Amino acid sequence: MNFPPFPIHRPRRLRARGAIRGLIQENNLMISDLIWPIFVTEGSQPESIDSMDGVYCLPINQAVEAASRAIDWGLRAIAIFPRVTPELKTSGCEEAWNPNNLVNRTTRAIRKAVSDQIEIMLDVALDPYNADGHDGLFRNGEVINDATLECLEKQALSHAESGASILGPSEMMDGRIGRIRAVLESNGYPDVIIFSYSAKYNSAFYGPFREAIGTEQLLRGSKASYQLDASNSDEALRMVQRDIMEGADAVIIKPGLPYLDLCQRVSREVQIPTFAYQVSGEYAMIKAASKRGWINGEQAVMESLLAFKRAGCRGILTYFAPFVAQWMQGIEN
Ligand code: PBG
Repeated sequence: MNFPPFPIHRPRRLRARGAIRGLIQENNLMISDLIWPIFVTEGSQPESIDSMDGVYCLPINQAVEAASRAIDWGLRAIAIFPRVTPELKTSGCEEAWNPNNLVNRTTRAIRKAVSDQIEIMLDVALDPYNADGHDGLFRNGEVINDATLECLEKQALSHAESGASILGPSEMMDGRIGRIRAVLESNGYPDVIIFSYSAKYNSAFYGPFREAIGTEQLLRGSKASYQLDASNSDEALRMVQRDIMEGADAVIIKPGLPYLDLCQRVSREVQIPTFAYQVSGEYAMIKAASKRGWINGEQAVMESLLAFKRAGCRGILTYFAPFVAQWMQGIEN
């Protein structure tokens, strides 16, 4: 790149006014870029989450209302996570593929109310249902891969049957995408989309989420034997490549901002639709600092979301989605 010297070249000309800045913007955040993760509960009242100010676990009827509101705001997708009652958590994780489990019932209720106006994404992983808190079956102190795959097949099928249009396998077992793709294909769900959490790191930023779904207390040991190590980036590229070969339609990088390098590498080098998950700990940090008046929350959120667009992400899963929707419509929170 060659530019003439000052004063022929005065870059500030293009920054002088809002109108000209808007005209030359390289990236834009649109509400339709966002996927809104919502939590649901068996209870009949919304339940707060200590570490996630402004986020609630919603009873099913309120989750349906949230989905309708999301559509009115222009959001195109939600992801549903369950706070499963402790009695339903077992070491066999059977509740994960119960056709009447919390997420399946919520999905059916939302589909009934709003049909296919919104994409509904469900996680494929055992942790909300696991008495051991892990994403896979935990036997003799280890998370075992191949037996977990059979659970994931059943779980994925039950979610497709309930009306989920996107599945998000997030448990980092080997071979899962191929097995889930095959089960969908052979049971009449060839069009169900897989957003694979290909690059899911072993991260401290998941803390508030684990409080929200009640796995924090149960978890024995760490998830380091299946989630990626923060030291690595080539390994994430290999996981993305592998998941594409097994049938993933898009991939997710998780967490978000601490792994922005991966967002850029994957979207540039692999050219598959790449999404980032701005996870619970990222949400909590921005909320906590803005609540104390240490940063401007709205600006910090918009800036962080634009960073993902700049890095090449097609979209972002973020708990800020409903706030962003309201800011964009000029509604005060
Ligand atoms: C696990 C799962 C996690 C999140 C969603 N599903 C992470 C974990 O507990 O290891 C975290 C999302 C967040 O922190 O917002 N299946």
